[in-house]
Amino acid sequence: MKIKVGVAMLVVTIFAILIDGYSCKVVQFIFGDSLSDVGNNKYLGKSLAQASLPWYGIDFGNGLPNGRFSNGRTVADIIGDKMGLPRPPAYLDPSLTEDMILENGVNYASGGGGILNETGALFIQRLSLYKQIELFEGTQTLIRSKIGKVAADKFFQGARYVVALGSNDFINNYLMPVYSDSWNYNDQSFIDYLMETLKAQLQLLHTLGARQLMVFGLGPMGCIPLQRVLSTSGDCVDRANNLALSFNKAGSKLMDNLNAKLPNSSYRFGDAYDVVNNIIINPSKYGFSNSDSPCCSFGKIRPALTCVPASVLCKDRSKYLFWDEYHPSDSANQFIANELIKKFGFTRVDQGDAPSSAPAIAPSPDQN
Ligand SMILES: *[C@@H]1O[C@H](CO)[C@@H](O)[C@H](O)[C@H]1NC(C)=O
Ligand SMILES: *[C@@H]1O[C@H](CO)[C@@H](O)[C@H](O)[C@H]1NC(C)=O
Repeated sequence: MKIKVGVAMLVVTIFAILIDGYSCKVVQFIFGDSLSDVGNNKYLGKSLAQASLPWYGIDFGNGLPNGRFSNGRTVADIIGDKMGLPRPPAYLDPSLTEDMILENGVNYASGGGGILNETGALFIQRLSLYKQIELFEGTQTLIRSKIGKVAADKFFQGARYVVALGSNDFINNYLMPVYSDSWNYNDQSFIDYLMETLKAQLQLLHTLGARQLMVFGLGPMGCIPLQRVLSTSGDCVDRANNLALSFNKAGSKLMDNLNAKLPNSSYRFGDAYDVVNNIIINPSKYGFSNSDSPCCSFGKIRPALTCVPASVLCKDRSKYLFWDEYHPSDSANQFIANELIKKFGFTRVDQGDAPSSAPAIAPSPDQN
């Protein structure tokens, strides 16, 4: 009896989607690097950018590694939760189905990826932004064949989009003298090159139906533990920080232009540079005890590029700004997300149904 009712409801649901695209849920499509990866790199067997070993994920769900390059949530997790949107699964997750995509969207983010195709070559395998968009086109073909073109167009135009890349284009490309971009460009012409590329990519996404899109800017990347270790004094690397500021300035301008030019679009740019910088300068004011070293580190052999099972963890993970050599902790991500929410000024999406079955969020010192 119960089974019959269940089947009947399922048929009604599918029928509703088939005849009326408006009944599709609002979901997110996320494009990004390790700051937004939720497991894609786990399935890139040759990629050296991995978060598949303890102690990644220790403050998330069951505490086992889940592909996030953090102890807990990503910034996009926190923002999506606040908007009332489900957390999209990783594109490369072998269990991904059309129904899951219609319910939750897709996350294409890949550790080591950049705006530029050539970025992150040292990681051997990673999905660059163009590659991620190509995979998104494949997703669109899949969904069109499932629910038809009209409904699919509505589904993709109603979705929310996040694009969050750029730090690898500097840290794992331009700022490394072994790569040709570092000698073919200067600071200004490299930023121009990034902006031209990003502009083409965002216009392509608009052509593919993206109407509501957020681009996350860069933080003070010269202050990540990895960069500090490179400077003999242990101070932040000013050049990297200045590049992040220039990127944010140019990115903000680009988004204003695109927003004015692209029909029916809401394309926004936001960064949390100042907020993170304030925490770095005065950690205790914001409830942190450390803002210059990784919570998870492999003893004195720094920089050990990732956090590994033999690493030692800090005593209180909620009081460290950085989780590993590159990535902020869950509590730092909470600050970053709150700032971006303020800047983007978006509202909650009312889906009129139950919350998604996303894994439990980590406890955080800042839940406002
Ligand atoms: C970047 O990579 C994509 C495939 O992922 C390819 O289609 C495109 O032509 C490449 N662009 C450049 C400038 O190499
Ligand atoms: C913009 O929105 C209007 C009204 O909904 C629609 O008719 C038009 O096709 C849209 N244009 C694009 C490019 O999406």
